[in-house]
Amino acid sequence: MAKSCLITGAAGFIGSHLVDKWLALGHRVYGVDNMVLGKRANLGEALKSPNFVFQELDVNDLKSFRNFLQAHAKEEPIEAVWHLAANSDIQAGGANPDIDLERTFLTTYNTLKLMQEFGIPKIIFASTSAIYGELGGALTEQSGPLHPISNYGAMKLASEGIITAALERFLKQAWIYRFPNVVGSRATHGAIYDFLKKLKKNPTELEVLGDGSQEKPYLHVSELIEAMVFLFQKEQKRLNVFNIAPDGSASTVRFMAEATVRLAAPGAKMRYTGGSKGWVGDVSKFQYSIEKLKTAGWSPRLTSNETVELAINENLANLN
Ligand SMILES: NC(=O)c1ccc[n+]([C@@H]2O[C@H](COP(=O)([O-])OP(=O)(O)OC[C@H]3O[C@@H](n4cnc5c(N)ncnc54)[C@H](O)[C@@H]3O)[C@@H](O)[C@H]2O)c1
Repeated sequence: MAKSCLITGAAGFIGSHLVDKWLALGHRVYGVDNMVLGKRANLGEALKSPNFVFQELDVNDLKSFRNFLQAHAKEEPIEAVWHLAANSDIQAGGANPDIDLERTFLTTYNTLKLMQEFGIPKIIFASTSAIYGELGGALTEQSGPLHPISNYGAMKLASEGIITAALERFLKQAWIYRFPNVVGSRATHGAIYDFLKKLKKNPTELEVLGDGSQEKPYLHVSELIEAMVFLFQKEQKRLNVFNIAPDGSASTVRFMAEATVRLAAPGAKMRYTGGSKGWVGDVSKFQYSIEKLKTAGWSPRLTSNETVELAINENLANLN
């Protein structure tokens, strides 16, 4: 088990929860984030801990990243990097592919480069359902061929590839986790976040992208973090690839929009923009098989709809 780890994207939504988890487990945590989407407020508690070292830096700025590692890697050897820095705005990456090349792929490439230089043996990578494209059916870790339909998915798949290639060169172990849609407190993006922001601006009407029929599994960030840490501690193959998701359930965009209106702005009218996709590159429906995760010994407790309602309330509390 890593006594000391580095988290890229540490001030982001999932990264900041992961920082809190490792600190709670008594570990020393190094965090970096360029604050493109990350927020210092997400690290409010963590920054008070003597076991947490944070620096605002861009992972692709190798000079600053190297200096950071040089300054700290000697204190206690870093055993693992949790690589979460990426572009999480899929629509922005669709409009400008450079965003995903730089923030989603090159951050992985450069993180591996410095891991080799500093002899860090383990990586845990935040991958995504978007790598499966529009395969359909219950997606297992063996599903293929993998033909992503977004630049984001393409650069995540390329990142998985560069990680498995690094296993041949210097890496000792890799954990690749394919997340579904993740929601909860401290969200920096996503449908619930967008709905609440729109309703704050105009509590009488909610614009919803698509026709509301898009249907995806939603997982609460607390369950995701639990599963990530569990698998890291339990699964010890050289390469450990897992889908992490709620068990069989999914939520429609219509359900999310209606629940958000009910909880945040009762009476607001819904205006659907139409079409089966929310945006270019949107995989409008997918379903995960999590048999491998359950066989490993971890099962989610919340359904997708329960998760969505919990997250709306949490994000509402954040917003006020
Ligand atoms: N939230 C989801 O539903 C979801 C689903 C699938 C995969 N993921 C993946 O999980 C990870 C975390 O996602 P999140 O939802 O917390 O998003 P997020 O945007 O809140 O977190 C990503 C963080 O990375 C930082 N970052 C981006 N480029 C950087 C760079 N060049 N150098 C340093 N920091 C940089 C951002 O500022 C941000 O704080 C990402 O890799 C994302 O692709 C998230």
